[in-house]
Amino acid sequence: MRTPLVIGNWKMHGTVAEARALAGALRDGLKRPRGVEVAVCPPFTALPAVAETLAGTPIAVGGQNCHWEDTGAHTGEIAAPMLADLGCRLVLLGHSERRREMGETDEQIARKVAAALRHNLTPVLCVGETAEERRQGLTFTTVEGQLRAGLVGLEPAAVTRCVLAYEPVWAIGTGVNATPGQAAEVHGYLRGLLSEVTSKEVAQRLRILYGGSVKADNADALMAEAEIDGALVGGASLTGPGFIAIVRKAARGAASRGE
Ligand code: PGA
Repeated sequence: MRTPLVIGNWKMHGTVAEARALAGALRDGLKRPRGVEVAVCPPFTALPAVAETLAGTPIAVGGQNCHWEDTGAHTGEIAAPMLADLGCRLVLLGHSERRREMGETDEQIARKVAAALRHNLTPVLCVGETAEERRQGLTFTTVEGQLRAGLVGLEPAAVTRCVLAYEPVWAIGTGVNATPGQAAEVHGYLRGLLSEVTSKEVAQRLRILYGGSVKADNADALMAEAEIDGALVGGASLTGPGFIAIVRKAARGAASRGE
């Protein structure tokens, strides 16, 4: 029912030439991905080259962040219309690395979500608890707070245009992924919450991706969960074969569930 989506988050990796080569490998290796949608989020500097390489392919391009204003005196920032201008179709927002390293607040993230929607970009709202929060039994409280704050003030129709990513902070870049059961439990909780703040129909349509140490060898088990609608992949998206394997597994996972 929900087409899985697999997004590669290249973070702060790669020259323009390297990004172009990786995009070329994905273009050649994923000619007609079936039953799965694919996107990559390169560093801003590589966006034009990657967008050009992937033009006319089914692989979408996105930004890793955007500002909440459309224009203005914001040194070092990139605005949503600038991403749209380059052909981006989505933008990651509220990634835990930005929350932690740049001090991004829920309020700023909500304004970014609104900016993305204004410019027809799909906001990929990232939520997730730290190891300490999980240890203290605050996983649901944390993700609930981030979800409610990130989508605050949006009409259900606007929420339908978003994608959610559950990324436990302790699983990002650590090699320790959440177990399929742990992820599915939080995804189920988030979907229940979405149903409460919007409607059952909207909640059923919204994709909730899992992120945090997704690799080719754990993707099968994660993607077999009915509540997991794809993946947000960091490290393993930096090589063509690794990322392509994950994309194929996400497509197979959905197919085996009859979606
Ligand atoms: P990882 O990163 O796959 O390297 O753990 C995921 C992410 O931060 O989106």
